[in-house]
Amino acid sequence: MNYHILTLFPQMVIEGLNTSIIGRAADRGLISIHAVDIRDYSKDKHRHVDDAPYGGGAGMVMQPGPVCDCYEDLCGKLGKRPRVLYMTPQGRVFNQSIAMELAKEEDLVFLCGHYEGIDERALSLIVTDHLSIGDYVLTGGELPAMVMIDCISRLVPGVLNNDESAQIESFHDNLLEYPQYTRPEIYEGMQVPSVLLSGHHKNIETWRRQESIRRTLERRPDLLKKADLSGKEREFLAALQGGCQGEEGGS
Ligand code: ADE
Repeated sequence: MNYHILTLFPQMVIEGLNTSIIGRAADRGLISIHAVDIRDYSKDKHRHVDDAPYGGGAGMVMQPGPVCDCYEDLCGKLGKRPRVLYMTPQGRVFNQSIAMELAKEEDLVFLCGHYEGIDERALSLIVTDHLSIGDYVLTGGELPAMVMIDCISRLVPGVLNNDESAQIESFHDNLLEYPQYTRPEIYEGMQVPSVLLSGHHKNIETWRRQESIRRTLERRPDLLKKADLSGKEREFLAALQGGCQGEEGGS
C-alpha cells in the first residue's frame, strides 16, 4: 500500500506516522508514506497557495491550481490516477468497512485542506471520495488522514504480528471486542474470570463471544442489528435484554 498525502504540512503527517506499528511497517516496506507539499506547486514567489473567497466571508480558500498541479504531477510519476480521498467534515463518516474497502487499493491519495477549504473546481476535477472522521470540525485534514492511514495500514497483510488480531476485534461481525486480561491474576482484589485460566478453549471462545454481545448491548446497541449471531447467541442476547428491560434509555 502506497499512501500519497497532499498537504501544506508534510512534516506533521510524516512525523506522526513514523512511530510504532505504522513506522515499523514502513521500514519493512509493507507500506510507503509519501507527503507532497502543495506549496511546491505555487506559481507565486512567496509560495502562496490561498486567496480570499469570492463573494466575501471569513478566512482564505486554497486555490485550485496548486492542488490540481500537485495531483497531476504525482499521476505522471506514478503512471496512474489513484483514488483521491478528500478529508472533509462533509464526507461519508469513515468506519471499519470503508477501511477494509480502501485497504484493497495499491495507491491512495489523501488530500488535506486547510483554512476555509479548497476551491470547489479542484475538488470536482480530482476528488473521488469525500471522507470525514466524525461530526466535528478540525483545523485541517492532516489528523483525519493520519487516523485513516493508521486504520487502513493495520489491515495490510503482515503489518500486525499476529494475523488474527485484525480479524478478532471490535467491529468485526459488528460486535465490540471482549474484555482482555493479563498478569497478575488478582489486581486490587479483582480476579481474572476463571474460565480464562481453565485452558478449555471451547468454553473460552463461548465466554468471549458472550462478553462481546454483552458489551455491544451495553455500549453500542445500534451495532447489534447488523451482528451475525447464532441461534444460541440470539437466546443469550434475548436473556440479557430481558434483564436490562427498564434500563433502556435510562442514561
Ligand atoms: N477536516 C476538518 N474536520 C474534519 C473532519 N471531521 N473529518 C475529516 N476532515 C476534516
